[in-house]
Amino acid sequence: MPLITSTSAPESSPVRTREELQDLVRERVGGRLFVSVSNREPFVHSRGADGSVQVRAAVGGLTLALNSAMRAVGGVWVAHGSGDADREGADERGRLRVPPGDPAYVLQRVWLGRAEHDGYYNGFANQALWPLCHTAYTKPVFRNAHWDAYRSVNAKFADAVSEVVGDREAIVFIQDYHFGLLPAMVRARCPRAICLHFWHIPWPLADIFSICPWAGELLDGLLGNDVLGVHTPQYAQRFLEAARTRPGWKLADDRTLENGERRTLVREFPISVDFDAISASASSAECDAAVERLRERYGLAGKFVVLGLDRIDYTKGVLERLEAIECLLERHPAMRGRLAYLHAGAPSRTDIPTYRALHNAMDRAEARINGKYATAEANPVVTIKRHLHVSEVMALYRLADVCVVSSLEDGMNLVAKEFLAARDDGGGRLLLSEFTGAAWELREAETFNPFATDEFADRLFAMSRAGTALDSERMQRLRAQVRANNIYGWIGKILETVPPRRDGN
Ligand code: G6P
Repeated sequence: MPLITSTSAPESSPVRTREELQDLVRERVGGRLFVSVSNREPFVHSRGADGSVQVRAAVGGLTLALNSAMRAVGGVWVAHGSGDADREGADERGRLRVPPGDPAYVLQRVWLGRAEHDGYYNGFANQALWPLCHTAYTKPVFRNAHWDAYRSVNAKFADAVSEVVGDREAIVFIQDYHFGLLPAMVRARCPRAICLHFWHIPWPLADIFSICPWAGELLDGLLGNDVLGVHTPQYAQRFLEAARTRPGWKLADDRTLENGERRTLVREFPISVDFDAISASASSAECDAAVERLRERYGLAGKFVVLGLDRIDYTKGVLERLEAIECLLERHPAMRGRLAYLHAGAPSRTDIPTYRALHNAMDRAEARINGKYATAEANPVVTIKRHLHVSEVMALYRLADVCVVSSLEDGMNLVAKEFLAARDDGGGRLLLSEFTGAAWELREAETFNPFATDEFADRLFAMSRAGTALDSERMQRLRAQVRANNIYGWIGKILETVPPRRDGN
């Protein structure tokens, strides 16, 4: 049976708005309970310096995207309660209604001890699976203790889901590589649940995946899903190739595996952003004022501003970007004093040695470049290492001449799509790594190879010359593509795989 060979960009979804998604939900979810599961929670309670408890929205691409979807769908979102005041923000069962002030669904927090979190999150999820699935040349770490914690935390989440679902009909929508074992565990506990799972990171080549000592168990866990979604057909094909070797399983067609009565559909659902919400917030007067404040604060007036905005992670090519900036300044003296490279990014996973080493390497590169090329007025490299408020993110998108996404490999990359959504002013250009799901989907984007430092620097230099009308037309077409395939379309297409309930409610 041939596997998927088409790599053409996906068709647009008919669902484009929250209202259209709500109609689809009525049809497909009907009276079933809708339950989402992710590691990160959408709202975090923390204690301020004055002792008061504050709640803030998480700003990661995944949580923002899923929050938009959950507001339309309703139901329960099960996630790790990670805030230092999370217990105070929830009831005795760890539940609260969110978003604060405009509640639309229930957040069910799951409590993890320090050792559990270390083994499951810092250990197996982020030192084994994360580097295993990304071609970024960081060696995965496989430790029995991490695997044991991963398995027991997956079981803990399965218990939480089954407590929420009971014996009701439900749709359980699982997020990501933190939960490779969860689908089979939910299936065993909740026989009337339909399991949908979205794997937000790449799926590696079969030979690479096979180095994981627990590759078989992970495949069996994921085969507990009714639907497994990935960003691109290539990732789906790789999963099908690996999973078809599991005992009892075979290909039923080019997207479905079967084992007796059991079937698992594996296909692409490229994730997206809440285009209209981003577009509106980036064109507000508040955003204009924030742009001016940032320009003044970092001395950006009249500069060619290159923006890199990503969580500080080696897969994002953050060091490669600094190396290209250094190369650019070295080879093109005219850019000295003219270029401002802004790197804004939230630190994460800093308990993991590879991430700490990355922070140190970035600091050294920044000091070296600024030491060589600072002028009396400003440094060429400005790093903003902290969690940014959504309004600051929008302002950064608006003031960039070029937004560079330099991932060494990335399942999709939502920064690329957010940037397009934020630029309704016709300005700015996107330079996108060819090793992202976004480059597969956004065929017209300007792409490049972030591993090739000299070419990377040359591309930035070429872009420093004024943009043309053609560039802005291209931006408009890319924007139209993201507008037509937004976050509601993403979840809409996933829900379309669910058969309507027989009694229709
Ligand atoms: C990736 C993962 C997400 C995760 C995000 C932030 O995009 O696919 O599941 O939420 O990174 O990572 P963190 O470890 O900080 O939650």
